[in-house]
Amino acid sequence: QEGDAEAGATVFKKCAACHVVDKDQNKVGPSLQGVMGRTAGTHPNFKYSQAMTEAGKGGLVWDEATMREYLQNPKAKVKGTKMAFPGLKKEDEVANVIAYLKQYSQ
Ligand code: HEM
Repeated sequence: QEGDAEAGATVFKKCAACHVVDKDQNKVGPSLQGVMGRTAGTHPNFKYSQAMTEAGKGGLVWDEATMREYLQNPKAKVKGTKMAFPGLKKEDEVANVIAYLKQYSQ
């Protein structure tokens, strides 16, 4: 079912040490502004792992389904990713944070 973007803003606090979403600014991780619909590993000014760059070249695009899989278990979805985050264990947290990310993507 559809996530709750307002609840997703709270979940995003777990991401905010490394990511911003409301502007095009990279931190430890790439800006997530516009990430929904973007090909993985393609923010022009961010130095990704080889694994993430290759995933994008292999056709990985961040949509509802692929984002769900990545956020549940980043290292399983993109083997070799340098995102040091274990993943979100609760389905509703995943759905909610995706709804939140969508608000900052076209
Ligand atoms: C990459 C989301 C938490 C560090 C990414 C990407 C997404 C994402 C979608 C791929 C972006 C792209 O292809 O342009 C999230 C969300 C988080 C979260 C929603 C919280 C639920 C974190 C945390 C850290 C982090 C806490 C730091 C400890 C990174 C790094 C990358 C990345 C370094 C680049 C990965 C690579 O090149 O392999 N994140 N992230 N993220 N994230 Fe996160």
